Amino acid sequence: MLVVIKDNFEEMSKESAKLLASLVRRKPDCVLGFATGSTPLGMYKELIRLHKEEGLDFSKVITFNLDEYVGLPPSHEQSYHYFMWENLFKHINVDPRHVHIPMGMAENIEEFCLWYEEKIDECGGIDLQILGIGANGHIAFNEPGSSLGSRTRIKTLSDQTCEDNARFFENKDEVPKYAITMGVGTIMQAHELLLMASGVAKADAIKATVEGPIMAKYPATIVQLHEFATVLVDRDAASKLEGSYSGF
Ligand code: F6R
Repeated sequence: MLVVIKDNFEEMSKESAKLLASLVRRKPDCVLGFATGSTPLGMYKELIRLHKEEGLDFSKVITFNLDEYVGLPPSHEQSYHYFMWENLFKHINVDPRHVHIPMGMAENIEEFCLWYEEKIDECGGIDLQILGIGANGHIAFNEPGSSLGSRTRIKTLSDQTCEDNARFFENKDEVPKYAITMGVGTIMQAHELLLMASGVAKADAIKATVEGPIMAKYPATIVQLHEFATVLVDRDAASKLEGSYSGF
């Protein structure tokens, strides 16, 4: 596992975009795994710039997203479909037929989850999976206690997550209670992982992920076992690390 520490969010974002862009240039039909949330937003902005100003071509790229809320249509402003189109896809030349985001409105969710796994395999697996991390060590919607071998499935959101999300919805009943998420095992099957974190609120989670024992309590700790994993963080997120790492 390679740990890279950048000065701030902007530098972290530029570095991650550089890594992803170099893969797209090397392998124009690569399979990319995307995440939502605030952490990758700077990277998405930089990718849009690279597309518009330097002609970075996404026309052959295939994408898979980590997760989506159950019950929200793609047009809902809080859905991850909406997030991805607003913050990245509509600004680049990705082919909409190449975009895969779990279908929160699927009639048969179990069947959908199996199909999602098969589709990833059919595309040759994910070349590079982008990951954020929760302050509690979650990756995707794999909350503490998730099986480290889990596959794409429906998960009940913790009370804490529902409470945290309530501010984004008009009334409490609208807050999704379930999500579809790639499993920890699915994520570990990607050929390469890029986990990003920014800010002091992530410092404990990054300390556990990089230097702690591997355990289901912190699903992100499993990345220690991945052969090609990079943990790319800013100084604040790295502030509790004790080892010496590159990038200062
Ligand atoms: C999003 C996802 C989540 C986030 C994590 C961090 O698709 O899978 O695990 O990566 O909750 O969120 P932010 O980046 O908002 O701190």
